[in-house]
Amino acid sequence: MKIFIAKDYNEMSRKAANIIAAQVIVKPDCVLGLATGSTPIGAYEELVKRYQAGDLDFSEVTSVNLDEYKGLPKENDQSYDYFMREHLFQHINMKASYLPDGMKEDAEEECRRYEELIQSLGGVDLQLLGLGHNGHIGFNEPAEIFEKETHCVDLQPSTIEANKRFFASADEVPKKAYTMGIQTIMRAKKILVVVSGADKADIVRDAFFGPVTPHVPASILQMHSDVTLIGDEAAMAKIPR
Ligand code: GLP
Repeated sequence: MKIFIAKDYNEMSRKAANIIAAQVIVKPDCVLGLATGSTPIGAYEELVKRYQAGDLDFSEVTSVNLDEYKGLPKENDQSYDYFMREHLFQHINMKASYLPDGMKEDAEEECRRYEELIQSLGGVDLQLLGLGHNGHIGFNEPAEIFEKETHCVDLQPSTIEANKRFFASADEVPKKAYTMGIQTIMRAKKILVVVSGADKADIVRDAFFGPVTPHVPASILQMHSDVTLIGDEAAMAKIPR
């Protein structure tokens, strides 16, 4: 695992954007796996700036997102589809972008469709990940086993609590979500994890330096051969030096 400790959120974002930009430059028709959450927003802003400056071209790039709430239409400003359009897609010339469809009633069929779509694109070249406070990646919540493929999850109370700041109340946070599975994520050729803030310091230590266990889903990333972890000093404060 490659580890970069950035001095602050801005430096973390620029470094993450450098890696994503490098991927797009060396393989212009790559498949990017993208993430939501507050952590990657700065990296997306950087990519938009570079596109606007004429330094990056996404015209052959396809993206697949990690997850989407079940039951939220794309027009809802809390859907991940909306988030991605607002922070990235509407500002750049991406060839095509996909997310799970939160409005599909038949969860099994939607999971199968999304998994097949990712495989049909030839898999993910570079997967960007944030890290949940409980160690979740995408919406793979702590569990007794690692769920392999795209599936529909019941969100944990702690995740609903963490995400309620974006909704009028905790009652309005969807209780289920579609997410790429652990195997789907682990099949990506390269993985880039971004973490920021002191509130992530414990989980960064546990996930990347503790035992590999489905109780900390991100810990499986220790088994991937090409992971880059970029964190600001606050998030990296508890890693062994
Ligand atoms: C959300 C997303 C994850 C994200 C995580 C951390 O629940 N499903 O993909 O990585 O929370 O979010 P943040 O970056 O805001 O801390």
